Amino acid sequence: MIIKLLKKNSDFICFVSKIDLSKNISNSNVKKIDKLINKYAVLVFRDQVITDQQQVKFTELFGKIEEPGNNSSVAKSKNRRLSKKISDVSNINKNSKTYKKNDPVRLFNLGNRLWHSDSSYKKIPAKYSLLSARSISKEGGNTEFADMRAAYDNLDRKFKSKIKNIVSEHSLIYSRQRLGFDINKELSSEEIKNFLPVKQPLVRKIPMTKRKLIYLSSHIGKIRGWVREDSMCFINDLIEYATKPEFVYIHKWQKNDLIIWDNRQTMHRVRHFEDTKEYRDMRRTTVLGEEKLI
Ligand SMILES: [Fe+2]
Repeated sequence: MIIKLLKKNSDFICFVSKIDLSKNISNSNVKKIDKLINKYAVLVFRDQVITDQQQVKFTELFGKIEEPGNNSSVAKSKNRRLSKKISDVSNINKNSKTYKKNDPVRLFNLGNRLWHSDSSYKKIPAKYSLLSARSISKEGGNTEFADMRAAYDNLDRKFKSKIKNIVSEHSLIYSRQRLGFDINKELSSEEIKNFLPVKQPLVRKIPMTKRKLIYLSSHIGKIRGWVREDSMCFINDLIEYATKPEFVYIHKWQKNDLIIWDNRQTMHRVRHFEDTKEYRDMRRTTVLGEEKLI
């Protein structure tokens, strides 16, 4: 296994080569990869030809897989193209067609264009996400990653002390409202109940590295004890600050790239592509978070 950093002495983004993730990975290499994720937050592996089954097996080396719930009408199992252990973040339906412009699944998936951390709206959010590029769009569709540790480090002392005890409320409803969803018309009462906000601390610490970070996501819609409007102004400002170019890496996908990112330490978003016209087959497996971060 050979590692190469994006920039000299950088602790964000690491390219890993000379390892085939479809094969058996030794325990010592699993430990090494785990350390690299904790240290660099995003690992890029090129030329990984991998099946769904192999991707699941590799993912399970790092913990329990988070399975997509059936708590949304757009995620019902009868509509699934792939197995339950794979999050289908492609634009392809089970009949191998791209989603139409107004398909509810497509509209719901537009949430991926907003800066977010996967499953931050769940009580136990995602730890790592592994995204395999089986086919890519000709133009656009880059994924951008923002380093929430660097964003925290660059805050001044006064601001760090102001935010240290803030608790934010995350819900899928908040991010969909940002997109313009009319929640009462477009979501069922059952979905609204399933997406009740969960509380997450705004400042967290990674146990392995002891580094602090701002835990941000477009799923945040309120800060505990604040009015909603003030909360939104504050969170929008913070997201704007934390996604300045100096904290962001833009990944231009190549077919068979596999990226592992740490949702605890980063936010990400996908950029526009012609999603009703061409296939972008991206398959994600997700490692469930296990520890309660402070
Ligand atoms: Fe995501």
